[in-house]
Amino acid sequence: MAIAYDPSRKTFYLEGDRFSYIFRVNEYGYLQQMHYGAKIGREDISYAAFQFWRGFAPAFPGAKNDWDSLDTMAAEYPGYGRGDFRRGALLTVDNQGRRTEDLKYRSHVIVREKPALTGMPSLRGGESLIVFLRSRTLDVELYYTVYERENALARRAVIKNRLDGDVRIQRVCALSLDLPDADYDMITLYGKYGGEGQIERVPLRHGLQTVYSCRGASSHQYNPFMALARKNADEHTGEAIGVSYIYSGNFEISAERTQFETVRVLAGFPSADFRYTVARGECFHTPEAVTVYSDAGLGRMSRAFHDLFRDRLINPVFAHTPRPVVFNSWESMGFDFDTEKLFAAIDACKDTGIELFVLDDGWFGKRDDDTRGLGDWRVNTKKLCGGLPPIIERCKVNGLKFGLWFEPEMVNPDSDLYRAHPDWCLRVPDVEPCLCRNQLVLDLTRSEVVEYLQNSVSSILQDNDIAYVKWDMNRHITDAYSAALPPDRQQEVCHRYILGLYELIGRLTEQFPHVLFEGCSGGGGRIDPGMLAYFPQHWASDNSDAIDRTRIQYGLSLCYPLSALTGHVSAVPNNQVGRVTPFATRGIVASNVSFGYELDLTDLSEEERNLMKRQIGDYKRIAPLIANGDLYRLKDPFTGNDFVFEIVSKDKNEAVVSFVQILGVFSVPIRRLRLQGLDEHKTYFVEETGLTLSGKTLMGLGLIMPCERGDFQAAVYHLTSKA
Ligand code: DGJ
Repeated sequence: MAIAYDPSRKTFYLEGDRFSYIFRVNEYGYLQQMHYGAKIGREDISYAAFQFWRGFAPAFPGAKNDWDSLDTMAAEYPGYGRGDFRRGALLTVDNQGRRTEDLKYRSHVIVREKPALTGMPSLRGGESLIVFLRSRTLDVELYYTVYERENALARRAVIKNRLDGDVRIQRVCALSLDLPDADYDMITLYGKYGGEGQIERVPLRHGLQTVYSCRGASSHQYNPFMALARKNADEHTGEAIGVSYIYSGNFEISAERTQFETVRVLAGFPSADFRYTVARGECFHTPEAVTVYSDAGLGRMSRAFHDLFRDRLINPVFAHTPRPVVFNSWESMGFDFDTEKLFAAIDACKDTGIELFVLDDGWFGKRDDDTRGLGDWRVNTKKLCGGLPPIIERCKVNGLKFGLWFEPEMVNPDSDLYRAHPDWCLRVPDVEPCLCRNQLVLDLTRSEVVEYLQNSVSSILQDNDIAYVKWDMNRHITDAYSAALPPDRQQEVCHRYILGLYELIGRLTEQFPHVLFEGCSGGGGRIDPGMLAYFPQHWASDNSDAIDRTRIQYGLSLCYPLSALTGHVSAVPNNQVGRVTPFATRGIVASNVSFGYELDLTDLSEEERNLMKRQIGDYKRIAPLIANGDLYRLKDPFTGNDFVFEIVSKDKNEAVVSFVQILGVFSVPIRRLRLQGLDEHKTYFVEETGLTLSGKTLMGLGLIMPCERGDFQAAVYHLTSKA
């Protein structure tokens, strides 16, 4: 049993293979956090809850000692206004303007099967605990689910209004952690359009530090992820706690280092622009957040997230399956294509090993550029004579499946949809809305809009043999106002939008369970666990430059499995950054994730074409490793000149090592690269060197990295164990 309750100590013990999470009901009925970290015994640890007098720490009414204060207590789910001056997990206002709530324990239940969270994605299965709290106006339910093998703990909360009137939620979190010391670095993934997943590691300073989004999407700018790592923690050693929020809209994850050198971590909705009114007798459900504890550095933390998301979140139809090799039309054709041009591109895929031809933006409405057509999901038969069937047929003849691009959430003012339903987009009455890429955001809080979009997308999928959908989102939300909601509910729009989006993509993915959906938001603007629950893979970035991609993919791999990211070999000079990298390097970097091509195949030299066939063959060999293997990040391109990923199969019989040297180095040192995660008792054949070496030697001494001259050189090593 991963969860136990000791009634004599009123203490809850939640345990994975290597962690314990312990909290208790203290003598006043408050939930008090006791321990989160290394696995310890189910002992009486009440001595660790010791408190003593601190100036300015208010004692709560009924406290036996004047040092019994919420300000100094490690809280399980902190509220507001009763002496805990740190940022809290919950702040509500009742119909008389009262903001103080004393949340106290009432009861709990431990269940074998995790209760469902309807309307939002969450991790599947797992033994769960529900703790029921009560205050003057609220019933609060705290949900905990333990994933023992992954050392993960999922949490969420339900807020029920028991008052005879409305209660307004001003802040609500899925989880709160009160860690007893602050000896951590904070690691976050920041970024920008074309530069997602950048790692920042900084010491925790006093005060509140946050990552957040107020863009209506999880965003390129900050991923809904944070890790706290011990100062001495690196990839392979030391303690780290990862926090991931399973949600695709506005969020805030914060770490607050306090006056007493403790840290409070919160994950929830942003404090700034979020309000939600809960009517009498109704409930509000937070999304789920999950923490992973690692005692072996960031590497083990990431592998736990990867396993967790592959096993418990991603659609099982695809979660463990090697993904198809894709050709995507965007970078080579943009909007400029017709049936003949597509035929030529399809024919050029023949016999290369490419498995899926994806027609990107530009096939519908009057979409010859990005100023018009979004919303009109009808094939442009002027451009594509005969519609999609001849193109799909041509794919079939060439042994390819067919995929199609959509951007359902958006509308161009120059579209039939907008002309028919101008009120279907988010906009403030009497205020001109902001355009971005010439488009407006549809109001997904409205069921008729969700209905329309479901019908539009599903009729294309029903009428055509389509194996894959790329679902794009090319702007963020401004003018967050819905014509369908009353004035006092307008601050709910961004959350209701995401609920509408989940409804839409939930219906579509259920209706078409075998269609592979790829998420995209101008690249990686919505890579988050929420989307991953519906879309097994995501275009990681509109920046396809191999060198920039080493960092983007490295950073995103902190939380996301490699198969959940997609990377394509594109043309040089690179479309976005102008860099010229070798074809082989582009292939090696892109084939570390779900793989494809995005360049004019009709223009390749014979040599490149042969290389491409070999690349695809190599990728198909390692695709099962990408889909299921364990990632070891051996060289960090953020801090050094080399990038190295090693992926090891679960049975440790196979491994692949990808090496990229970013800049050429004069008098390059001899670089031994000690591998990780192999079986020291097994013997491995390293194909590229012809050497047969024990796992012990490969991990203790290592491989010798190549000493190639020149910038952007890359190499790959395949290891197979010999029986
Ligand atoms: C942004 C995406 O990231 C690109 O890959 C491409 O699909 C364009 N949108 C199409 O408009």
